[in-house]
Amino acid sequence: MTDSDHALAELTIQQLDGFATEFARAIEPLVDEQSIRAVQAQFLGKKGKVGEVLKIVGKLPPADRAKVGAAGNKIKNTIEHEVARRLGELVHAAARADLARTFDVTLPARPHGGGHLHLLTQVRLEAVQIFSELGFVVADGPQIETDWHTFEALAIPKEHPARDMQDTFYVSEEIVLRTHTSPVQVRTMLTQPPPIRIVAPGHVYRRDDDPTHSPMFTQIEGLAVDEGISFADLKGVLIHFVSRFFQRDLTVRLRPSYFPFVEPGAEVDMQCSFCMGAAVSPPCRICKTTGWVEIGGAGMVDPDVFAQCKVDSEKYTGFAFGMGLERMAMLRHGVNDIKFYYEGDLRFLEQF
Ligand code: PHE
Repeated sequence: MTDSDHALAELTIQQLDGFATEFARAIEPLVDEQSIRAVQAQFLGKKGKVGEVLKIVGKLPPADRAKVGAAGNKIKNTIEHEVARRLGELVHAAARADLARTFDVTLPARPHGGGHLHLLTQVRLEAVQIFSELGFVVADGPQIETDWHTFEALAIPKEHPARDMQDTFYVSEEIVLRTHTSPVQVRTMLTQPPPIRIVAPGHVYRRDDDPTHSPMFTQIEGLAVDEGISFADLKGVLIHFVSRFFQRDLTVRLRPSYFPFVEPGAEVDMQCSFCMGAAVSPPCRICKTTGWVEIGGAGMVDPDVFAQCKVDSEKYTGFAFGMGLERMAMLRHGVNDIKFYYEGDLRFLEQF
């Protein structure tokens, strides 16, 4: 074995080791699989540089063959490994680019509108708030009510013509969908002694269906029972309520009317909040130029009702009122069809 044979082996090993840097430099700027594979072939392909250099192995003394062969395997591994690493990188980069095209993660989040209370709920809570400042507390009663609580106890016996005023949904002979919140008056007086100051908001039902009537609507009932309660107290409470609710000084007019459970009884009109009663042009469509709009019924609790509810009418007097909340909201917000409240159309709901 000659020195020059050894020198050849050394040279070959150096050459092979050198390919590692050469290869790394060659693929460094490449950004697609095809060109990386092409460079890989330049080194490891059939006529690749590594193969060409290794052709020498056969001519080397056996002692050197193993060393050169090992160097050959090492560079093959290095190149394979490097190709796999770069291709993996490319796949990741592509995925990242794809993501960036779909989402710009630096953009501010799209505002997601929160929900809010329904206009009628807002109006109900506001009404309750105003009355609670005057010392009234909330009372409740069932919507599926007995005929007795709804009518009989309120001095509206069967066959009484007043039943025609309220077209009733009967569940059975003795059970109805309450047509007004007044049965809560009865339930309250039967369960608690005077002094009483309650408001009872809730759904009521009547067989009625047109732009200003819905088979289900919302009333708020009021009842005050104590010694010395007068009609003036009733009027004062109502004036306070409408002025607070409409946020302007409005007065109230009590027009004599008939409800079997109050005496005297009255329709409650409030001063028109649109024209304030002035002769405006064009004429006010809300009050039809009368200057007043009806908002409910009221009166002094009839002694007959007190008797049915076991309240001593010699000692106590009381007033009661009932108002439609849809109507209050309608007057304050100009809603012109009662159906809007119940249709759930966001274009309506989002305005309030
Ligand atoms: N309950 C009556 C109605 O719904 C309104 C009312 C309540 C009248 C209280 C007088 C007293 O028409």
